[in-house]
Amino acid sequence: MKIGVFDSGLGGLVVTRAFIDTMPEYDYVYYGDTANLPYGEKKAGQILSYTLDALKYLISQKCGLIIIACNTATSVALRYIQQKFIPAYAPDVKVLGVVIPTVEEALRGGAAKVGVVATRATVASKIYTAELRKLNPQLKVTEVAAPELVPAIEQDDFAAAEKIVAGYAPHFAEMDSLILGCTHYPLVKNCFRRLLPGVEVISQDELMGAKLKDYLRRHVEIDICLSREGQYRFLVSRSERHYQDVAQKLFPGISICPKEVQA
Ligand code: DGL
Repeated sequence: MKIGVFDSGLGGLVVTRAFIDTMPEYDYVYYGDTANLPYGEKKAGQILSYTLDALKYLISQKCGLIIIACNTATSVALRYIQQKFIPAYAPDVKVLGVVIPTVEEALRGGAAKVGVVATRATVASKIYTAELRKLNPQLKVTEVAAPELVPAIEQDDFAAAEKIVAGYAPHFAEMDSLILGCTHYPLVKNCFRRLLPGVEVISQDELMGAKLKDYLRRHVEIDICLSREGQYRFLVSRSERHYQDVAQKLFPGISICPKEVQA
């Protein structure tokens, strides 16, 4: 069994790189649903349906542990997937998301005020507020959607992305921690850090590798089922020529393929 990583597009490569840097010995299959990007602007039912299709695909590729790197898919679909879909469809498969590990990290230093910047669908789900308040009911949480940020990063327009970040930064100036709740935002984490020097900026690329390693240490029954030949495949539902360049920036040295070729 391999480790599957799912994202709505290529942004999840940043987290996959963190997994591979931390645990290079495992076999990984990355699947980016580039045909249906962006999820952050879609309705919940549509996001759930795309996510279920993606999971079925990764399960068909012999993934026994799947991490949904996409914050939007985690926010909207993970609960249904864990409680209804997996028990009926593939009870031996384990599916994890990115919200809970991120929330744990954001509260580690005893924060009393936490900001969350994410896609519109993630903010609408209110999952970050709910999970943060489970750990600290007194917590002050400010969630803000930044819908222009993903397109600017996707288009490689970092001058525009910096301006957008500068527009959102004042919302979070009083926070103790700020969660970057979107696969693409690690690419602008330094910008947030520069503009918010007193705020602890939580970036998923910096925490997910250690979190997954710790999870596998605590779940030996899953770990022993995972193959370790150090093989990595990076698949997308639709390939466009410039994706290869984007992928190189997110994870230098890799090559992405359309899923049909590899299936
Ligand atoms: N992967 C999405 C997320 O982490 C961002 C891109 C999208 O909107 O699909 O929320």
